[in-house]
Amino acid sequence: MIEATESMIKQQVVGSVIADDVSPSFDTFRFKANANEYVYPGTLVGTDVGDGKFLIGRISASIEVNPHESASRAKVREAMQIEADYPEEELSTNIYRVYEADIIEEGFLKGEKLEISEPADMAKAGSEVFLPTETVIAQAMGFEKDPKKSLCLGQTRIATDVELTTDSEQEPPNNVLLKPQFIQRHLFIGGTTGSGKSWATGILLEEINKFVIPIVILDSQNEYIALTEGLDGKVLKPGEDYTVRLSSLTETEVLELVPTLKGTLGQELLAYTFIRLKRRLLAREEKTKGQLSFLDVRQSGFGLSELLDEMKEDAPGLEMKPLSQRLAIQRTQTSLERHKFLGEKTNWVNLLKEHPVINVDCGELDQNQLQLVVGATLRELQNLRKKNLIPPHVIVLDEAHLLVPEGQDSPCKQVIRENVRIGRHYGICMILITQSPVDIDKKTIRQCNTRFIFALEPDQLDSLRGVKADATDDMLKRLPKMPRGSCILSGTYETIKHAIPIRIRSDRKTPPGGEAPNILDEVLQWHSNSQIAP
Ligand SMILES: Nc1ncnc2c1ncn2[C@@H]1O[C@H](COP(=O)(O)OP(=O)(O)OP(=O)(O)O)[C@@H](O)[C@H]1O
Ligand SMILES: [Mg+2]
Repeated sequence: MIEATESMIKQQVVGSVIADDVSPSFDTFRFKANANEYVYPGTLVGTDVGDGKFLIGRISASIEVNPHESASRAKVREAMQIEADYPEEELSTNIYRVYEADIIEEGFLKGEKLEISEPADMAKAGSEVFLPTETVIAQAMGFEKDPKKSLCLGQTRIATDVELTTDSEQEPPNNVLLKPQFIQRHLFIGGTTGSGKSWATGILLEEINKFVIPIVILDSQNEYIALTEGLDGKVLKPGEDYTVRLSSLTETEVLELVPTLKGTLGQELLAYTFIRLKRRLLAREEKTKGQLSFLDVRQSGFGLSELLDEMKEDAPGLEMKPLSQRLAIQRTQTSLERHKFLGEKTNWVNLLKEHPVINVDCGELDQNQLQLVVGATLRELQNLRKKNLIPPHVIVLDEAHLLVPEGQDSPCKQVIRENVRIGRHYGICMILITQSPVDIDKKTIRQCNTRFIFALEPDQLDSLRGVKADATDDMLKRLPKMPRGSCILSGTYETIKHAIPIRIRSDRKTPPGGEAPNILDEVLQWHSNSQIAP
C-alpha cells in the first residue's frame, strides 16, 4: 500500500464515460476523448466509481466519428471540386473519438492508502476518464516499489503513447520494477532484428548482476562481449581456453561427429564403448553421491584418449577383425580431434567463484558445433548444480530457435527443455532470446513465465498466440510504430498480472555489443585503401 492523494492517482483527464449498447458493463467501458487527447492500445486509464473507488481499464479499441468525412459527403466535395471546410475536433460539435477499455483492476482509496483489488463495479456514464499515475500503474501490475531491491527495467510511459502537457520536461520514473525471483521462472525475449532484444538483455543482466547472481552467456553472435567485460566478467573461446568433456556429449552427438563410421561395425564399437563408459561414470557418481569433492568432480568424466583405449579393449568382444578395429579407432580419433572444443572439463566451480559473468563466445562455431557446445555446457552445469557444487545461476541463450527448434529433436533441445522444466527447483534460470518465434519450440517458451515481446512481423506474432497472455492483437500490432526499445511485457498471473506496453531503459551501464557495421563506410574505406592491381 502506498500513500495516496487524488494527485497521486490522476495524471490527466482525457475524456468521459459514455453510455451505449455495450458501455458501461462489468467488462468494459467506452469514453469520448477530449479534443487532442490521444491514447493507444494497451494504455491504462482510470475512472471514478464513487466512495474513493476507481476502475482501471486498458485500451482495446477506438473509433473516430466525423460525419463530414462520410463517403457521401466526401463524394459530393469531389464532384463539386471543393475543399473540406469544417472546424477541427476542438471546435466541432460532431467530430469526436471513442475509445473502449477492458476493465482489469479496481483501485480503492482507503484513507490515504491505495489498494488494488479484483474489479467488481461498473463505470459510471458521464464520469471523467483519466490517465493514472505511474505509481498506480505499477501497483495495478504488481510491480515492486524499491528500484534497489528489484530488477529496474524501464517505464510504462511511452513518449509517443501519452504526450503529457504538464510535466513532459520531466523524465518519467522507471516504474517497471520486477521481483528478482521472477528469473527463476525463466524469461523469454522475442523480436525482429534491431528491435531491442540485446539492449534489453543487457539491462536485465546489469540488474541481475546487482544481486551477484552468476551469469553464464552462451553468446552465438558476439553480442555480449562488451557487457561481460563491463561487468568484470570473463570471455572464453571454445577450442582456445574453453573445452567441454567428451563425456558431456550424448551418444547420438558422438556418433554424428564420426560420420565415416556410419553403417559399419566400427560405429557399433564406438556406441558400445561410449555407453559403457557413461554407465560406469553414472554408477561411480551414484556410489559417491553427496560426497564428491571438488577434485572428484573435476576428474569425473572421460576424454578422447580414454575412449580410444577402451575401444581397443572392447573390440575383441564384438568379434572385429584387427584391420576394421584399427580403422574404427583411427576414424574416431581423426574425427573427434578435429573439434578443438572437446578436451578437458572446464572448472566451473572456480570460474563462477572468480567471475560474476562468464561468456562462452560461440561466434565462430557452426550450427552443429553450437548445439554441441551448448548441450554439453548445460549438462555440465546442471550436473554440478544438482550436486550443489555451484550456486544458482542465470543462463543466457541467444538465437534460441537454433537450439530448441520447433518440430525437431536434438540432444541440446532435450537439456534446455529439462532446464526450463526443472530449473526452477534447482535455481537454474534460463533467458531465451530469438528473432524467430515461429521456429522456436512453443512448449519451451510457454514455460518461460516472463516474456518481452518486441516488434515482430504478423506471421511471427501469430506463432506467439499461446504465450501472449491477455495482450490484445492491437497491442502487438502497434509495436513496430512504437519507439525503439518498446515491447509488451507479459507473463502468467504469478509474474506479470496483465500484458502491458513498456519502454526499456536507455541508460545502459555497459556498452552494447554486436552493432551492425556501417557497410557504406567500410566499402569506402576498402576502396581508399586498396590499390588497383597492375
Ligand atoms: N531501450 C533502448 N534504449 C536505447 N537504445 C536502444 C534501446 N533498444 C534498442 N536500442 C538501439 O537499437 C539498437 C538495436 O537494438 P538491439 O541490438 O538490442 O537489437 P536486437 O533486437 O538484439 O537485434 P538482432 O536480432 O539483430 O540482434 C541498439 O544498438 C541500440 O542502439
Ligand atoms: Mg541482438
